[in-house]
Amino acid sequence: MIELRNVEKTYHTASGDIHALKRTSLTIEQGEIFGIIGLSGAGKSTLIRCINMLEQPTAGQVFVDGEELTAMTETQLRKARQNIGMIFQHFNLLASRTVYDNIAFPLEIQGLSKDEIKKRVEPLLDLVQLRERADHYPSQLSGGQKQRVGIARALASNPKVLLCDEATSALDPQTTKSILNLLRDINQRLNLTIVMITHQMEVVKEICDRVAVIEEGSIIEEGNMVEVFTNPQSPTTKDFVKSVNKLELPEAFKDTPVQDKYFEGSSMVVRLSFFGGNADKPVVSGMIRECGVDANILSGNLDQLKDRIYGNLLIVIEGSKDALENAEAYLRAQNLQVEVLGYVK
Ligand SMILES: Nc1ncnc2c1ncn2[C@@H]1O[C@H](COP(=O)(O)OP(=O)(O)O)[C@@H](O)[C@H]1O
Ligand SMILES: [Mg+2]
Repeated sequence: MIELRNVEKTYHTASGDIHALKRTSLTIEQGEIFGIIGLSGAGKSTLIRCINMLEQPTAGQVFVDGEELTAMTETQLRKARQNIGMIFQHFNLLASRTVYDNIAFPLEIQGLSKDEIKKRVEPLLDLVQLRERADHYPSQLSGGQKQRVGIARALASNPKVLLCDEATSALDPQTTKSILNLLRDINQRLNLTIVMITHQMEVVKEICDRVAVIEEGSIIEEGNMVEVFTNPQSPTTKDFVKSVNKLELPEAFKDTPVQDKYFEGSSMVVRLSFFGGNADKPVVSGMIRECGVDANILSGNLDQLKDRIYGNLLIVIEGSKDALENAEAYLRAQNLQVEVLGYVK
């Protein structure tokens, strides 16, 4: 549905060139929710704005729905953009227009009649549950309601693609959830392709099918969300995953130096991640039985990755050097993710 081919974006500024997006290729399939995560300044907004050509790429090609946007005239582009809705962190609503008139705005620009506009706007008011707010002004709305208006406005011209630039970053966690639920609902109901730009791993794990991690203008990691989440490769991706994996060494270990390698008399701290309910118990007791080690569970939690249950367990394993090696091998042979966090006394 969306393809970036060797796209680059360089901003020329008084203080020199900024290579905001380096040679990037990316394919996003029809109907998927694709997340792009990165720290502030990584180039996320630049990338997403290249998709609808709000930024003209310095090099490369952009295709949306089989058409090359980078080869179009202004007029062709205006038409093609009707296929691409966009929502923003700060909503970008028109303060002097009501909810209804904000949603109607892009349709007025397209020159639709009052009746045609009404036919489009009314069902959208229902979709985003704002019918009784139709005559309110943005200043009378909560952040979540404002973003619902933004979503309805973005959907007004029946786009095939919805671009979301930090769409939940200005919202509290509960409102964020409700907006993400709405986006998921729209994705399924309308089979809309959604691109989510965010710096929040919560957003990615809540609704994304696939994710790319962007750093200093380059995509450094990309894949199925669950795979990236459970087996992050780069340090940045690991940090993002850690930001939502609340497992930390307990207080008792706070002053204990954690070493990378085994040392005389040390115990091994391991994080186990698994899918499903209680896959943990037999694994740990099996390891104790088979490997001649002892183990203590330090903490554990259950989490949700999109629609799958995901569990985390932090355990400390005691035993001889050989026994610990056996235990690690035993765990790695199981159907779960194993990360040795280090060794403590
Ligand atoms: N219009 C612009 N002119 C000059 N530099 C820009 C412009 N927009 C973004 N940048 C620079 O490009 C880099 C990437 O910015 P941006 O795409 O906004 O990152 P993000 O959205 O990930 O925070 C930053 O260094 C930013 O300062
Ligand atoms: Mg940005």
